[in-house]
Amino acid sequence: MIVLGIETSCDETSVALVEDNKVIANLVYSQILTHKKFGGVVPEIAAREHLKKLPALFNQLLSETQVDISQIDGIAVTKGPGLIGALLVGVSFAKGLALRYNKKLVGVNHIVGHVYANYLAYSELKPPYIVLMVSGGHTLILKVEREGNIRLIGRSVDDAVGEAFDKIARLLNLGYPGGPEIDRVAKLGNPKAFHFPRPKMYDADYDFSFSGLKTAVLYEIEKLKKSGISELPTNDLAASAQEAMIDVLLYKVTKAAKDNNVDKIVLAGGVAANSRLREKLNEFASEIEFYIPPLEFCSDNAAMIARAGMELLKKGIDDGLMLEPVPNLFE
Ligand code: KG4
Ligand code: ZN
Repeated sequence: MIVLGIETSCDETSVALVEDNKVIANLVYSQILTHKKFGGVVPEIAAREHLKKLPALFNQLLSETQVDISQIDGIAVTKGPGLIGALLVGVSFAKGLALRYNKKLVGVNHIVGHVYANYLAYSELKPPYIVLMVSGGHTLILKVEREGNIRLIGRSVDDAVGEAFDKIARLLNLGYPGGPEIDRVAKLGNPKAFHFPRPKMYDADYDFSFSGLKTAVLYEIEKLKKSGISELPTNDLAASAQEAMIDVLLYKVTKAAKDNNVDKIVLAGGVAANSRLREKLNEFASEIEFYIPPLEFCSDNAAMIARAGMELLKKGIDDGLMLEPVPNLFE
């Protein structure tokens, strides 16, 4: 089965063609440089950029792959969660194609897409497994008991962990997006230099809270400045804040796996790129098998949407022209 995937939920415009677990092509245009000067994604600009880029990217996909539209079995598009204007561009474009070429159309939950990204990298992966989904918009623990049976068992009650990375980076005057910057400078710092709180770490649930950590870093910076320090120990602050976030993430996700008698953990989302997180996984490697998709499938992409949509198309689902974006889906 060949599926066309379309993803426009945030600041990546992406189209892909996927045949079973094989990615024929996955084109991603990142708007990061456009939003950089604002220090974050501006929803209105994101929607306009998708509108400008999507038709050209789709034409490029067909010409590069030499796949004729008649060979495509169905279209999968992200219906949510995401920015409403951004989602509307993808959904409207997908509807136009479905109508023009008489194709089946399915709306895909972006988060389910992140889970299915793993099948593109590990075709042998089978449930049951636990997913740690860590991005700029979400911090979730999901339990996949059987194929297609995905249950939310934990989430951040406030900021997503990627958002916390970005906000702490801003406090430290590092660039945007902050995650990769903190990752970079933390390598030069001491993770034990400051002891930041590990909120909710030992609570019985699998939920997270990251907004207090950002405040703790802010207070520490103010305290240091008041003490008359000539230069902020940015590397130590970054390393210590990063360590707090990673400790909580790893403690809770491994607890979720053990409590549920599951020995496989799958990582998804942009924060899965973090080098300290990847390094610290090894401490649990004797008990738990970790699956980390390559970065191109960790961050937002249409290949994962096509692969998730394939499951819906196989079930005979066709949302047709009634499909509407749902910005707060799964919230
Ligand atoms: O999944 P993603 O590409 O986009 C969505 O948010 O859906 O995730 C982006 C987030 C940003 O907050 C970014 O700062 C964070 O992932 N990120 C990282 C790293 N690379 C990206 N956070 C920590 N360490 C990294 N190496
Ligand atoms: Zn995402």
